[in-house]
Amino acid sequence: MSATLLHGKHLISFQEWTKNEINMTLDAAADLKRRFALGEAHRLLQDKTLFMMFFEQSTRTRNSMEAGMTQLGGHAHDLTPDKMQLSHGESAKDTAMVLSRMGHGIACRNCFYGIGNQYLREMAKFSSVPIMSLQDDLYHPMQAIADLMTIQEYFGKNLKGLKVTISWAYATSHAKPLSVPLSQVLLFPRYGMDVTIAAPKEFPLLKDFVATAEQNSLENGGSIRFTENMDEGFEGAHIVIPKNWGGFGNYSFDEYNANEDECHKEMKANLQKYKSWICDERRMGLASKEVKYMHALPADRGNEVTNTVIDGPASIIYDEAENRLHTAKAIMALTMGGRP
Ligand code: CP
Repeated sequence: MSATLLHGKHLISFQEWTKNEINMTLDAAADLKRRFALGEAHRLLQDKTLFMMFFEQSTRTRNSMEAGMTQLGGHAHDLTPDKMQLSHGESAKDTAMVLSRMGHGIACRNCFYGIGNQYLREMAKFSSVPIMSLQDDLYHPMQAIADLMTIQEYFGKNLKGLKVTISWAYATSHAKPLSVPLSQVLLFPRYGMDVTIAAPKEFPLLKDFVATAEQNSLENGGSIRFTENMDEGFEGAHIVIPKNWGGFGNYSFDEYNANEDECHKEMKANLQKYKSWICDERRMGLASKEVKYMHALPADRGNEVTNTVIDGPASIIYDEAENRLHTAKAIMALTMGGRP
C-alpha cells in the first residue's frame, strides 16, 4: 500500500479504514511513542493548524489532540459552540467549508444521540481537509485504536483467540454514549478476538452494528457472543472492559428525538434494576489469571468498578489513556501530513 494513502482521509469510524491502514497507524503510533520517550523531536506537522470543536466535555481526547499537535510542531484551536457561530445556527457545511480554507484538519466531538454522527458526516462531505471524529453518538475511533494498541502491547500482535469481555456496568454519573462499546465490538473481531458482550436486556447495542461486527468476525476468525449475566461474561476472560452505556439502543433515532425526556425517564428506571453490575474482586476472580482491566475513563468509581480493581495490579487504564496521545498523533500525522 502507498505510504501516503492516508493523506487527506477522514476518520469517522475505523469500519471505513482497511486493516492495512489501521496497521500503518498502529506502527506509526509505536514509533511516535518511542520518539516521545527518547525526547526526540518529531515535528511532522510543523506550522499546521487543527480546529477542534467540542460540543461536550473531555479530558483525554482534548488534551491528547492539543498536546499531540504541539509535539508535532503545529497548533490546535480548542473551540466550543459558545465561541462559534454554531450557537447562532451556522450550518455544519458552512463551518467545514470555512475552517478547511484556514487550516489542515478539523476534529469534532458531538455525542447528541441521532445527531452527532450525521453532523460529522455532513462536515466530511464539504471539508477539503480531514475530518476526525473525537467521538459521536455511534463511534469513538480515537478510543478504539488506543485500546487496540494497548491490547497488542500486553498480548502481542496476534490476538486470535484472545477473550475480551465488553460489559455494561452501573453508573450514576451520566448515561454514557454507545460509541465506545460499538467501536470496540466492530474493531476487535477484525483482529481475531473472541468478544463477549454482557449487558442487561434494557441496554442493548444497536442491531445493525452487531450484524456488522458478526460479519467482521466471520471474515477475520474472531467471534461474538452475548450474555445477560455479568458473571458469565467474566468467566475465563483475558480482558474485561466493564463500562456504563445508556439504554439508547432501545430506541430508534426518530423515537428518541420525538420523546427524549420519556426515553431518559425509562432509562433511569431501568438503570436502578442493575446496581449490582459492578466490576469487583469477586468477578475479576472468575476471569483468566492473567486478566487485564481496561476502561476508557472517566470511570464512575464505586459504581462501575471498585477502587481495589481499578487501582489494582490487573488495571492497565493509565497505559490505555497514555496511548490516546500516541495514536492521536499517528492519525493526525498520517492524515494531515504524509506528503512533503
Ligand atoms: N475516553 C475519553 O474519550 O475521555 P474524555 O471524555 O475525557 O475525552
